[in-house]
Amino acid sequence: MKLLVTGGAGFIGCNFIYYILAKYPADSLTCVDALTYAGNLASLERAREHANFRFYKADVANRAAIFDIFEAERPDAVIHFAAESHVDRSLMDPGIFVRTNVLGTQVLLDACRSFGNIRFHQVGTDEVYGDLPLDRPDLKFTESTPLSPSSPYSASKAAADLLALAYARTFALPATVSRCSNNYGPYQFPEKLIPVMITRALADETLPIYGKGQNVRDWLYVEDHCAALDAILRRGSIGKLYNIGGNAERSNLKVVQTLLRTLGKPENLIQYVTDRPGHDLRYAIDATKMRRELDWEPRVDFDTGLRRTVEWYLANADWWREILSGEYKSYYVRNYDAR
Ligand code: NAD
Ligand code: DAU
Repeated sequence: MKLLVTGGAGFIGCNFIYYILAKYPADSLTCVDALTYAGNLASLERAREHANFRFYKADVANRAAIFDIFEAERPDAVIHFAAESHVDRSLMDPGIFVRTNVLGTQVLLDACRSFGNIRFHQVGTDEVYGDLPLDRPDLKFTESTPLSPSSPYSASKAAADLLALAYARTFALPATVSRCSNNYGPYQFPEKLIPVMITRALADETLPIYGKGQNVRDWLYVEDHCAALDAILRRGSIGKLYNIGGNAERSNLKVVQTLLRTLGKPENLIQYVTDRPGHDLRYAIDATKMRRELDWEPRVDFDTGLRRTVEWYLANADWWREILSGEYKSYYVRNYDAR
């Protein structure tokens, strides 16, 4: 298969590229990434040694650039990770989220239509469903839960999902959409909860927990997400939607406490700070459809995944120290100093 991966220099995209290179060494992989603050060529160092891997620096919302790449590469399938992905940044600057996540998706869908109805998969998020109450553990998001996004990030991702499903129905584009819960693992940019906490705890810095730390997320080790996406891409039903989850609900406080124990650091590093505006209370995924139709289930339990993640950050300090020394510093001040 000739696969075109957008956003492959980011967290999940680069893990997916390594997953595919290991599982299907004969596949050809093209990565398209604008290398925004979240994209990092250092994450693709090993991939770039493969003869059947190619990289293009391009913005998915740049129609001419994307059409040129499709003309040159003629992919069989496109898996679309590229996005502005951080909720807190979407509260500071919603415009770039609409441009990249909505317009960028539409450009890719048009390119897929124009170059022979190419198979397209939209990597979506469970945040499009809004949130669930903390006191109703029986409730989970299913594929038919109504959309109710809370942030500019999740609203822009909902729009992108709907575009993909509309192209499938109206233009018979062979598209699928997945909606996944919170990922963690190697190469995650240290603006998201787990790598923020690991990198700061290692430096004995305070750990900023929003509100009281009671908000709940459903954590999935990134390799399990990659396996789910691979299954949908190769065996999923066209025009359909799949929820992907980790079966590992934890409050943020619990996640940070587990991390501190794993790192051998004291709990007094925790600092409660002003809550995120519009902060979703709880996410929980019902992934029955993935299990029933595609025989997929998460394999890595949370404690094992967290230990592997901590080991990766310990062994790859150069990767994240480089990030912390750049643009990240001013982002950190903007997001945390006034809290
Ligand atoms: P990330 O922020 O780590 O990486 C995003 C990548 O997209 C970066 O390499 C960046 O350079 C690239 N990019 C951004 N704008 C671009 C543009 N205009 N053109 C081309 N490339 C561009 O994100 P992630 O956490 O790896 O998430 C990947 C996808 O998965 C996103 O679509 C996100 O919404 C979705 N998702 C993420 C999670 C999670 O927990 N991280 C869970 C569910 C779904
Ligand atoms: O559910 C899937 C989504 O998960 C993805 O679509 C997003 O791309 C991804 O960023 C993630 O969104 P969250 O907002 O849940 O992730 P984040 O890591 O930003 O925050 C996780 C929880 O931790 C959330 O309740 C906010 C809280 N938090 C986060 C940070 C960065 C803190 O308490 N302190 C922090 O410093």
